[in-house]
Amino acid sequence: MRIDILSAVPDLLQGPFSESIVGRARKAGVVEVEVHDIRQWTTDKHGKIDDTPFGGGAGMVMAIQPIVDAIADLKSQRHYDEIIYLTPDGERLGQPRINQLSLCGNLLLLCGHYKGIDQRIRDHVVTKELSIGDYVLSGGELAAAVLADAIVRLVPGAIGDGASALTDSFQDGLLAPPVYTRPAEWQGHKVPEVLLGGHHAEIEQWRLDEALKRTKQLRPDLLDEA
Ligand code: 6GU
Repeated sequence: MRIDILSAVPDLLQGPFSESIVGRARKAGVVEVEVHDIRQWTTDKHGKIDDTPFGGGAGMVMAIQPIVDAIADLKSQRHYDEIIYLTPDGERLGQPRINQLSLCGNLLLLCGHYKGIDQRIRDHVVTKELSIGDYVLSGGELAAAVLADAIVRLVPGAIGDGASALTDSFQDGLLAPPVYTRPAEWQGHKVPEVLLGGHHAEIEQWRLDEALKRTKQLRPDLLDEA
């Protein structure tokens, strides 16, 4: 899988893709993640990529030319399954959408800034619009980092223990059960006895019960959906 990201502040995205699971997956060649500076494509002699909004009002709008030329350049090198614009008014991201996107070959993520991008790019070039929740970020970069992280960890080979991704919270519509490690007793607080017994069927039953209990308590809306 390959994920290309178009951004006006590419430096924001270096950290999240250099460490941990995504960083390791890139080094191992499981995924490619490339961040591109939209300014590379501007034809403006001062390097501008935004302009004032028609009709007036506060804030700047990201212009068509640099973005569309960037996308055309990247599209000439490979086919993209989706061209995704990160925006607070997009479809709210959930695990089912992540699962589906993790099966794609190439994705192009477009990060907006300022007041957003010229609507005609959204209407005629972008194929999907996603939001990571009902609050406003100062740009699409952190949302793109969230999206790419959630996708990459599902790509086979990204997580050492492939089964681990399948037992995540949300993956079966439930929150994940509690987990414990050594010591078996800490300041008088003991690990649940069943986890120490080595009886796998009992442990699985306990985990399912705990997942249900936790979901009922913390996110009853997930049970209503299921
Ligand atoms: Cl995708 N972008 C911005 N700017 N803010 C957001 C968002 C995206 N998702 C939630 N808030």
